[in-house]
Amino acid sequence: MKPIRFNRAAVTGREAEYVTRAIAEGPIHGDGPFTKACHEWLERLTGSPKALLTTSCTHALEMSALLLDLREGDEVIVPPFTFVSTVNAVVLRGARPVFVDIRPDTLNIDESAIEAAITSRTRAILLVHYAGVACEMDRIMAIAERHGLTVIEDNAHGLFGTYKGRQLGTFGALATLSFHDTKNLSCGEGGALMINDERYVERAEIIREKGTNRTRFYRGQVDKYTWCDVGSSYLPSDILAAYLLAQLESHDRIQSRRHALWNRYYEALAPSADAASVRLPIVPEHCGHPAHIFYMLMPTLEARTRLLAALREQLILAVFHYQPLHLSDMGQRLGGREGQCPVTEDVCDRLVRLPIFYQLTDDDQARVIDAVTAAWSAQA
Ligand SMILES: Cc1ncc(COP(=O)(O)O)c(C=O)c1O
Repeated sequence: MKPIRFNRAAVTGREAEYVTRAIAEGPIHGDGPFTKACHEWLERLTGSPKALLTTSCTHALEMSALLLDLREGDEVIVPPFTFVSTVNAVVLRGARPVFVDIRPDTLNIDESAIEAAITSRTRAILLVHYAGVACEMDRIMAIAERHGLTVIEDNAHGLFGTYKGRQLGTFGALATLSFHDTKNLSCGEGGALMINDERYVERAEIIREKGTNRTRFYRGQVDKYTWCDVGSSYLPSDILAAYLLAQLESHDRIQSRRHALWNRYYEALAPSADAASVRLPIVPEHCGHPAHIFYMLMPTLEARTRLLAALREQLILAVFHYQPLHLSDMGQRLGGREGQCPVTEDVCDRLVRLPIFYQLTDDDQARVIDAVTAAWSAQA
């Protein structure tokens, strides 16, 4: 029996050719010709006025925190059901993350609980569109406007996701993308900062280039470049951009395969999910999702442990996801305590993600579906 892995980065055909071209033609440092082409693709695909490739989504989040000038005494509202980078970006600047629990349906920040968490120190709402299913953006943007807060979208999962027909990552002043190899499109490690408020553009270019105006120098707008501000090295080599360009050009193929896989899981598992007390993903009608994650919520932690073991016996790797950040060692040092975010605490124990990736074959997916339904019947 052949093992079925949880994920494998998509390879669509032209990656090696473009990387070879980048090496042959140069320059291969950041902001070369392939990076520029990726920027144009990302701006066209999303409608964001400005894309800047970064070395990771983590770094795009750190850039966002620098752009907001977050500092000690500031507070940022975040969900505890996310990857550590979302929150680290805030903590690295000495600001305090204020955890607001998630909704039980979409697993996104509970917009009805945000206002109670706002204080005179709150600067921003940093949200995550889990699995690329949108947060309730109308409500969140209205709250932000009412309280003068900046919205940052951690859109690591959500390239191609939509809310009421509009692309995710175009609502907040800033949004971040990930091209880590677990994401729908990837270059191994990579990301992007999407800037929807033009006031941030010039400073973002400076922060990304070690605090210098080298980007303006390359464009011929200044005759030498100099140290202007704080910053670091957040731009990837053009070799990585060449790889990513091949993926952007093939996004239709990648996305349509992922949607076919996602829909097949849903259709095959839905008929028996209720009887097994399993909850499948919920995508509200006004949201378009990018088929990034196919998850299930098992009835209990024990049921999840049994399911993962049963799949492992069939050489199928399924995995859980985030652990509640407020209960991590660092989260507890920041004051997190059990019972603070009950939905997150419950969901983290019960969530399972099934293999979903471009190269997953129909036969292998059928094996996963059979193994899941067999495990459910054995548990009934
Ligand atoms: C919600 C979220 N934000 C940020 C990241 C970090 O992305 P990267 O690995 O590109 O830094 C991840 C990683 O999976 C994530 O899930």
